[in-house]
Amino acid sequence: MADIDIERTSLRTCMVGGLRASDSGAHMNLAGWVHRRRDLGGILFVDLRDRSGLVQVSFKADWTEPDSMELAHRISHEDVIRIEGVVHGRPQGSDNVDMATGEVEVRATRLEILSDARTPAIPVYRAAEHELPAEELRLLHRALDLRRSELQQALILRHKLLLATRNYMDGLGFVEVETPILTKATPEGARDYVVPSRVHNGEFYALPQSPQIYKQVLMVAGFDRYFQIARCFRDEDLRADRQPEFTQIDVEASFVQPEDILVWMEGLMSKLALVAGIDAPLPFPRITWAESMDRFGSDRPDLRYELEITDWTTVTADVEMGIVRAAVDAGGRLRGLLLKGGARLSRKQIEAIELRAKAAGAPGLFWAKCGDDGTSGPLGKFLSPANAEAMGLRPGDLVLAAAGSDSMTSPALAGVRAAAAEALDLPIVNEHAWLWVTEFPVFEEHDGKVAAGHHPFVMPHPDDLALIESDPVAVRGTAYDLVYNGTEFGSGSIRIHDPDLQRRILRALGLDEQEIDEKFGFLLDALAAGAPPHGGIALGVDRIVQRFTGSGSLRDVIAFPKTTAARALFEGAPTALGEAQLAELGLNVTKKANQGG
Ligand code: AMO
Repeated sequence: MADIDIERTSLRTCMVGGLRASDSGAHMNLAGWVHRRRDLGGILFVDLRDRSGLVQVSFKADWTEPDSMELAHRISHEDVIRIEGVVHGRPQGSDNVDMATGEVEVRATRLEILSDARTPAIPVYRAAEHELPAEELRLLHRALDLRRSELQQALILRHKLLLATRNYMDGLGFVEVETPILTKATPEGARDYVVPSRVHNGEFYALPQSPQIYKQVLMVAGFDRYFQIARCFRDEDLRADRQPEFTQIDVEASFVQPEDILVWMEGLMSKLALVAGIDAPLPFPRITWAESMDRFGSDRPDLRYELEITDWTTVTADVEMGIVRAAVDAGGRLRGLLLKGGARLSRKQIEAIELRAKAAGAPGLFWAKCGDDGTSGPLGKFLSPANAEAMGLRPGDLVLAAAGSDSMTSPALAGVRAAAAEALDLPIVNEHAWLWVTEFPVFEEHDGKVAAGHHPFVMPHPDDLALIESDPVAVRGTAYDLVYNGTEFGSGSIRIHDPDLQRRILRALGLDEQEIDEKFGFLLDALAAGAPPHGGIALGVDRIVQRFTGSGSLRDVIAFPKTTAARALFEGAPTALGEAQLAELGLNVTKKANQGG
């Protein structure tokens, strides 16, 4: 029997999931939901469910009181019942091996219906071959959906991971501090969710995109080591790995270098991985951002399989393919992937891979197949045997390449790498591929405009300070990301603790002095009060739980998630406000023409 002390209540002796043959003969009070019922006339079987699992309960005139027997015929799926009964080992051969409690049944002497359930809008009991109802329907009826064991197990694992996090961080002397939810815009690059103020009509709070500024201020205040299981809010285009409301393990510490944070977080991840039964051998490999982009085209490469980008610019310098020559003459490179045995891919499959390159902004993909009688294909027909040899192309191989600036070819080849690995079913060499990517650039350029690579508080690499104004995109940052199987788990950096340098960075981002004071005055004032060197990281809890449980979506590891249209279907949010409430808030609503979802 499972630990009885944590299961006993006034209404029940224990939960059902731990009952075993060794409990035979025990009198029990059990309570839970009717998962499944089979009425065979003289005998009635009910699978009784609670959080811990299922057990078979039987009702028969031989052992069930007459009133209870009559009641038993009336119970239906998802009713909440309580029974009194005796545990019996099942006769040899009639064990149910699919059920943890399959070696016992509980013979009910008495039955009480605690709650009648109307016919469930979505079935909780499903025969194994039945598919799940559509997700929208499940989100609408979340109270029923959350009765599924997969969802309950994911949320229980989530709880255990957060508990392990709190214990681990506490053990390292970190203090959990709560920071405000009603706050001022915090720059993490997304739109803010805003809350109108009733007392100050026309003014709005912003919900935090992260506790970034507060945690830095806590360092100035001398907290030395802070963490928080923090809820963050971002109004951004939703993708499979994003929710508008999500949770971070947010961390900041004083007098640190990247090494301190990386080692602490490796320790944390190995603890969490242990809880989830996942391998996390330490230390995690590290590569710089520049190397990651060069070798994999991505800042969060999936290293479960081996496939690297090669630079063929030099070995193809004599190849007379106009479009490649023009790209190289303009300062670009010819880079691509050599796929051993890839020549078996059909033209159609290659075209499907090319679509990934195009979706990432490349005009197209050049390919070359190698057969016994030389190379073919748009690039292949220009290659001499010497070129093919220098590129490592052997009969049966395929080359997929792109020519141009790295900023165009890297994302294209990252997409090609993923698509080719899938098409060729490349072997998994490392089931749990952990990686630190370091030295992310401080700035990015979008349409000629300089923007923050992460957020504007990242300390530049000390050797690159002189480049801030002259060549901003070349400035390396003290920033790092934690990557697991191609998913960004977390992101952090050492911060700027000198208010003058912080101002300089904000100016380089195109802010004038007035904007700087308005938006960041409170941070700059705090930094001027004597700030220790500090740095930190934030890990995405939802993503970690999703990957650790192998769930298909972040929505499967959040109790009440939003849809991709940012709607909460169960409770029905967002909603319109009544006129009185709008008037009180001093708001007038005009709907935009293109509103949907
Ligand atoms: P960043 O914006 O990179 O950094 O976020 C850190 C981690 O939070 C998770 N995450 C999300 N998870 C689900 N849905 C989202 N919409 C979403 N957005 C982010 C990711 C990501 O790696 N303040 C900085 C951290 C720091 O510098 O210390 C920050 O928030 O797993």
